[in-house]
Amino acid sequence: MLKVGLLGAGRIGQVHARTIAAHPRSELHSISDINGEAAGTLAVAHGAEVRSTDEILADSAIDAVLIATSTDTHSDLIEAAVRAGKAVLCEKPVDLSLERARACRGVVQESGKPVMIGFNRRFDPNFAKLKAAFEAGEIGKGELLSITSFDPAPPPVSYIKVSGGLFRDMTIHDFDMACWIMGGAPESVSATGSSIVDPAIGEAGDVDTAVIVMRYADGRLVVIKNSRRAAYGYDQRVELLGSEGLLSARNVLEHTVEKLSAEGALTAKPEHFFLERYARAYVAEWNAFVEAILDGAPIPVSLEDGINALAVADAATRAAQSGGAVVVQGA
Ligand SMILES: NC(=O)c1ccc[n+]([C@@H]2O[C@H](COP(=O)([O-])OP(=O)(O)OC[C@H]3O[C@@H](n4cnc5c(N)ncnc54)[C@H](O)[C@@H]3O)[C@@H](O)[C@H]2O)c1
Repeated sequence: MLKVGLLGAGRIGQVHARTIAAHPRSELHSISDINGEAAGTLAVAHGAEVRSTDEILADSAIDAVLIATSTDTHSDLIEAAVRAGKAVLCEKPVDLSLERARACRGVVQESGKPVMIGFNRRFDPNFAKLKAAFEAGEIGKGELLSITSFDPAPPPVSYIKVSGGLFRDMTIHDFDMACWIMGGAPESVSATGSSIVDPAIGEAGDVDTAVIVMRYADGRLVVIKNSRRAAYGYDQRVELLGSEGLLSARNVLEHTVEKLSAEGALTAKPEHFFLERYARAYVAEWNAFVEAILDGAPIPVSLEDGINALAVADAATRAAQSGGAVVVQGA
């Protein structure tokens, strides 16, 4: 049984708390949050204890921590946790600063402790099937990957201000998806972005709509389209064109009933947002972590993967500012 301390009881911390508590091989031992009320409510819901982060890290009965705190705390908490001998699953991104993330890698390597990064989309059954079919050679050589990733509505501007910007906060999932499917970081990135959904996002120095092109050394291309707003819900599609065909993962709809009438055809909307769309992915992600720690299975999403995605996000941020292609300095 894996005894777990959860750091962070916010939106995603609540999802992870349910998953940890429900897994037959893990126990949600304790929860810490600088917001005591948030930690308390979540602890009561799952029969866990409220502790400070220091107390969780000092407790030798706790084997692992899941870091679901705000992004600007991730590297510090990863380092503190591995120094305390814990295995770590940390939410994305590793940090807002690539340099800081690389320094964190040094501490993790020295500790020898396993660290996994929460790129949950890899565990979505549809995307995993697409990747497996591609790797089985079903469409030949992958040449052009297209990722559509639109949120239903933008987060509050207070969140945007500390998020590190669209590319580090939101597109980072798509960068990881692209590196995972195409096999590593690209050679260069071009990007352009606008704030056309909410002028307040522009005033905060960020963009809410963007198009990114990733280019590999051998000419393979990835196109990513992002928006913080889609009136019909969470739009998450992946399409891979290969030398012998195409693999496409469409949206998962709220239900499968389709209405046909004289006016036309009507289907359900895509599942509303990440909590619904990736519910199965979060469970599979946690299961992979448990199996890695308890059974010695490989860590499926490494700290190196997290740094790679951040390197692409940094390059995209600079490309959008300069208007030219930027070379990616990989992990
Ligand atoms: N993988 C995903 O699908 C996904 C989805 C949402 C968020 N995230 C990531 O998860 C992280 C949290 O996002 P969220 O939406 O849950 O944010 P949130 O603001 O809802 O929750 C963050 C929580 O962390 C707490 N906190 C902040 N600093 C802390 C510290 N030093 N010690 C203990 N608690 C601390 C806050 O009080 C808050 O309750 C972010 O890094 C975000 O990028 C990932």
